[in-house]
Amino acid sequence: MKVIQQSLLAAVVAVGVVLAPAMRAHAADPIVIKFSHVVTDAAPKGKAALRFKELAEKYTDGRVKVEVYPNSTLYKDAEELEALQLGAVQMLAPSTAKFAPLGVKEFEVLDLPYLFADQASYDTVINGPLGQGLFKRLQSKGITGLAYWDNGFYVISANKPLIQPSDLKGLKMRISGSKVDDETLRGMGALPQIMAFSELYQALQSGVVDGAQNTASNYTTQKLNDVQKYITTTYHVHLQYAVIVNKKFWDGLPADIRTELEKAMKESTDYNNSIAQKENADALAAIKATGKTEIHDPTPAEKKAWVDAMMPVYQSAAKRVGQNMIDEALKATGRSAN
Ligand code: LMR
Repeated sequence: MKVIQQSLLAAVVAVGVVLAPAMRAHAADPIVIKFSHVVTDAAPKGKAALRFKELAEKYTDGRVKVEVYPNSTLYKDAEELEALQLGAVQMLAPSTAKFAPLGVKEFEVLDLPYLFADQASYDTVINGPLGQGLFKRLQSKGITGLAYWDNGFYVISANKPLIQPSDLKGLKMRISGSKVDDETLRGMGALPQIMAFSELYQALQSGVVDGAQNTASNYTTQKLNDVQKYITTTYHVHLQYAVIVNKKFWDGLPADIRTELEKAMKESTDYNNSIAQKENADALAAIKATGKTEIHDPTPAEKKAWVDAMMPVYQSAAKRVGQNMIDEALKATGRSAN
């Protein structure tokens, strides 16, 4: 009996010796999530990414470490998605206007001008079946969609006043990637050009492009207003981000960790969505206060002219994103299909 007890003890000690370093190594090596994005830490998305890091590390008691790489320090727009698919980064939050290279052009339905009458309409659509349906399309690309982060509506800018749609004629306008954006601007006589966000300031400063469209907080956090004299608050397209992860990485996480990360994501999403509108309002006020950039709010008649000039894109976009997608989106906003 004693012999058996001794050999059992010896076995336990031996197993302990073998396992202890491995267990220590496990405890000392957290799971690392590299989270890359293209805005500054001061933009709503930048703040929300840092909030996710804080909560994820807290809720997992340090078993997960989130490394946030802001402002394109790791990857630029198009490279990000490839890096995610290859597993070089685990988490991103790109604008949904940039998903065409993945072969999921249906996301561009969200770039249809004046699709959303207001913020409430956007919230309903993105949090409903349409938003979830778009996420499903990412699965076969090795990507899982976790949440949508809001960043409000686009304003439009140049170094000349943009009062009427015809004022865009001949202007080189930077766009972020969506073909629907391209067609919308081209329809008004502009010359749209896809360009990485990190290159935009320089391109505007040097005149490589004449103008841009983005949210007010993206102007101030990139100082774009320093190189644009006129902004018009057309609010024609909504900017939203899809927070996405490498599917294999996500599915391979221990279930308890994933649950904590989902909780952290839910709270950072609420946080992002609670600050986006105010950040845009503050940004516009800050731009006005500089006195260097003129902000023009269209009159109702001018607004109608912008809407009318952009509507033809609903026809051409059908070839790209599918008439069904457009009908579904219109229905989700409570309007009937065109
Ligand atoms: C852009 O490239 O214009 C934006 O998508 C940047 C961003 O992520 O807000």
